[in-house]
Amino acid sequence: MRVGGTVRVPGDKSITHRALLFGALAGGTSHVGGALTSLDARSTARVLRQLGAEISPLRPGRVVAIRGRRRLARPTAVLDCGNSGTTTRLLLGLLSGHRFSATLTGDASLRGRPMRRVTGPLGRMGARFIEHRGDGLPLTVRGGPLTPLRYEMPVSSAQIKSALLLAGVAGNVEVELLEPHGRSRDHTERLLRAFGYQVMEREGWIVFRPSGRLEPFEIQVPGDPSSAAFLVGAAVLAEAGELRVAQVGVNPTRTGFLGVLARMGATVDLVEGTEQFGEPVADLLIRPAELRATEVRPAEIAALIDEIPLLAVLASRAEGTTVFRQVGELRVKESDRLRLIAENLRSVGSRSEISGDDLYVEGGRAAPRGRVRTAADHRLAMAFAVLGTVPGARVSIDDLTSAAVSFPNFPETLRGIRRRESA
Ligand code: S3P
Repeated sequence: MRVGGTVRVPGDKSITHRALLFGALAGGTSHVGGALTSLDARSTARVLRQLGAEISPLRPGRVVAIRGRRRLARPTAVLDCGNSGTTTRLLLGLLSGHRFSATLTGDASLRGRPMRRVTGPLGRMGARFIEHRGDGLPLTVRGGPLTPLRYEMPVSSAQIKSALLLAGVAGNVEVELLEPHGRSRDHTERLLRAFGYQVMEREGWIVFRPSGRLEPFEIQVPGDPSSAAFLVGAAVLAEAGELRVAQVGVNPTRTGFLGVLARMGATVDLVEGTEQFGEPVADLLIRPAELRATEVRPAEIAALIDEIPLLAVLASRAEGTTVFRQVGELRVKESDRLRLIAENLRSVGSRSEISGDDLYVEGGRAAPRGRVRTAADHRLAMAFAVLGTVPGARVSIDDLTSAAVSFPNFPETLRGIRRRESA
């Protein structure tokens, strides 16, 4: 196919969750422009309303108004976080600093995801938890007065880090964290600094001091680089043309995939860069490329964790065998992404193996053909939809509606970048 035009992607999911959470805790009315309106973002808005925040409906193109309160209110019903791990884990941190009980649950995928990675350290700070079904949801949190925490995290994870920093905010205590392999996305730290909190780096540790105060704010959310990545991938695989994805967040803790793509032979140009609310933003310019295999190192994983499904399908079109080292975290995402990436690549005719926590993908030229089972995982569905755009492909995906978890209108947007050969 040939690609062309300029497109925008929906607002950044991570920043939208955080803007809603901070707005709910600011004493006054905040405004969020460009907010993501996907199912995950709605889950955060829904539970924050149950906790006493007033939040206007999340509709595309509309500024979201949030009337917050300095302390959240005791909920009268179970908090359903839908499919969203970020909603759940960040909320567990916030609720740990509130003196009431709340029970969280979610859909079948979310109920099976590990929560001890946050309840363990939050428990050390003084919060209490009742597990209803082992390490997962439903889970009841009873917050209270918290004590400072100095903690070496078992994995580099922005959800764990943010949960603990938000507990520091809600409990007004110091928090010091060490991430083991590379720095995970730092949107929480950037926002906290904007509110006057001290968040420093000291000998590799992230050091938080509760010196700030959440005040009402206005923010414009940039486009989500993790959503843009799928369009970037489709443009790289195209036969001709050039695609521009406008106004994408290019925070370096999110754009690890661009570095990997450059090593694979696809250079994405960043143009018209600006900074909005402490976050770098730019247009991405992408042209088709012949890809070659690469090795993705453990220290790179945190900055491209959500882009591995897409990078893996691109690797299946590259010359040589690509290896993703130490990607065991993929087992506890919205699905067991590690297993399903390898299985589905094999289903469409590629070679892919898992060895320990490493993922191997062998590239080839044959048109991908076969059926893909996504276990309702949005990023798997979108990655294989991109693979389905190569000439001669016949990739049937069991469920592409899951894309609405993070990227409303994904199928239409993917179709919209195609140009007729003669154009
Ligand atoms: C997110 C962090 C990542 C990512 C998720 C969003 C966030 O999870 O996979 O899609 O907004 O903090 P981990 O921090 O658990 O890796």
